[in-house]
Amino acid sequence: MRNDIYKWWHTATIYEIYPKAFIESKHKGNVIQGIISKLDYLYGLGVDALWLCPIFDSPFIDSGYDIRSYYDVNPDFGTIEDIKMLIKECHNKGMRLILDIALNHTSSEHPWFIEASKDNNSPYRDYYFFRQGKNKGEGAPYPNNWVSSRTMSSMWAKNSFTDDYYFHIYTKQQPDLNWRNKTVRNEVIHILKYWIELGIDGFRLDVINKVAKPEGLPDKIYDRDLLEKYADKMVENLPEVHDYIREMRETIEAEHKDVLWIGQTAGISVQQAYDYTNPDRNELDLCLTFEHTDINKTSECRQVKWTVKQLKAILAKWQNTMNEGLWPTVFFGNHDVARMVSRYVDAKEDEIPICAKLLCTLQLCLGGTQIIYMGDELGLPNASYEDIDDFEDVRSQMIYAKRIEAGESKEEILSELNKLARDHARYPIPWSKHESAINQPNSVYNYYKETIALRKKNDCLTKGITEFIDVEDEALIAYRRYYKGDTFTIVANMTRDKVNTKDMGFEGTVLHGNYETLEYDNFRPYEVKVYYKNSK
Ligand code: GLC
Repeated sequence: MRNDIYKWWHTATIYEIYPKAFIESKHKGNVIQGIISKLDYLYGLGVDALWLCPIFDSPFIDSGYDIRSYYDVNPDFGTIEDIKMLIKECHNKGMRLILDIALNHTSSEHPWFIEASKDNNSPYRDYYFFRQGKNKGEGAPYPNNWVSSRTMSSMWAKNSFTDDYYFHIYTKQQPDLNWRNKTVRNEVIHILKYWIELGIDGFRLDVINKVAKPEGLPDKIYDRDLLEKYADKMVENLPEVHDYIREMRETIEAEHKDVLWIGQTAGISVQQAYDYTNPDRNELDLCLTFEHTDINKTSECRQVKWTVKQLKAILAKWQNTMNEGLWPTVFFGNHDVARMVSRYVDAKEDEIPICAKLLCTLQLCLGGTQIIYMGDELGLPNASYEDIDDFEDVRSQMIYAKRIEAGESKEEILSELNKLARDHARYPIPWSKHESAINQPNSVYNYYKETIALRKKNDCLTKGITEFIDVEDEALIAYRRYYKGDTFTIVANMTRDKVNTKDMGFEGTVLHGNYETLEYDNFRPYEVKVYYKNSK
């Protein structure tokens, strides 16, 4: 690790909350008070910080990632006073609060956009991208030919007031902000400072690697064979993004130090992650990357076959960067992907506790900043939906409509959504079903608690280097962590098949695992073991 300087977040375990689904219905109307009522539970789990998915005023077309006012709280969630109380209560417990904020786009109901869309001469006009359509040529009638993988449609929507088009990567209710405009960047800084001054400790910057758009918004030259049919790459990781982030951070740091900057940066390469998080460049602290969570699907929610070996290779690729100074974030669950126990292992009902514990161990013993997605500590699996109307997420709805339009069968699409949709991470947490989790010694909750505690107690698990082990058996993922004479070896059987590891050389005392009894060299279905050895 660079200069051996650790900030709080290097060794932290963060807990992601998707507010709408986090809390019991009795708290409806005040989700934030509901979160406050669960702080003892979260503190008990051992998490160091909470990441709150957007809590801003929003028409909620894209679950709050369409912000109508950056200075107001969604009235369904509570008030600014509730947020202040949440900050205070978190801080009293020594926990931090991270806000998720979407600054690439606003809601189309944001007053800036309403004014801009109605009047060519509005001062807000240049906050967004309004352009005339083309009558002829590629991409007509739109201003350019870009198609978004997020909507499977043009990135332009008609604005009837001024008879032109505006630009949006996500839904048409999420017009993109024009970060080339310095006034927009100043607004962003103003918003962030407002929340920092209320006591927020950091931000998860939604799709931050897309905020710069190429000068002139030129047509994309599409591959003839349509290998890449979407134009997303046109708006990803442009050199200006780095300038914008640095400017934002440096301006804020002149007054407020120690804010944590996490960037959601899907699709970046290892080199790009270095560029975003190299401390000398003063941009982001952490990047969120999704190669491992998206291993089983395409953006159109099509199933992709994957193997344990591939998952292992992706994990190894990002862990190895840690040995070269990059600090990864590690998460298996997220509000944008199906539940991990249904995604990585397709657990049957009675296998869920074992599988949840397997994935907990595999994740939490890796190096980097850890993020747990709400409900994974209860082993929540995917939901089951019968009809398209049961899916609330706008993306599921768009995918369904587009694929139906393309002539695909309803059954096929529903079956894929039933495995892969974002909705699975967004149904309300059935707390009552899990009330006893805290008191049951072998519950998934208590296993998470023990694993987080193990991590906290052992610098090797937070600061050690990681080395993946080449094992012949493709059912296994195995890695070692090393630090100052300590070695932890983590071996996970990702399948229902038994595996014998007698000749594989895993050594040490078994400190932790997901079975109650120990069979030293035998790995039972979905068994994980953590071996410990000290060679001082
Ligand atoms: C990010 C969020 C996702 C949202 C999108 C648009 O990918 O994680 O939930 O739909 O950005 O803001």
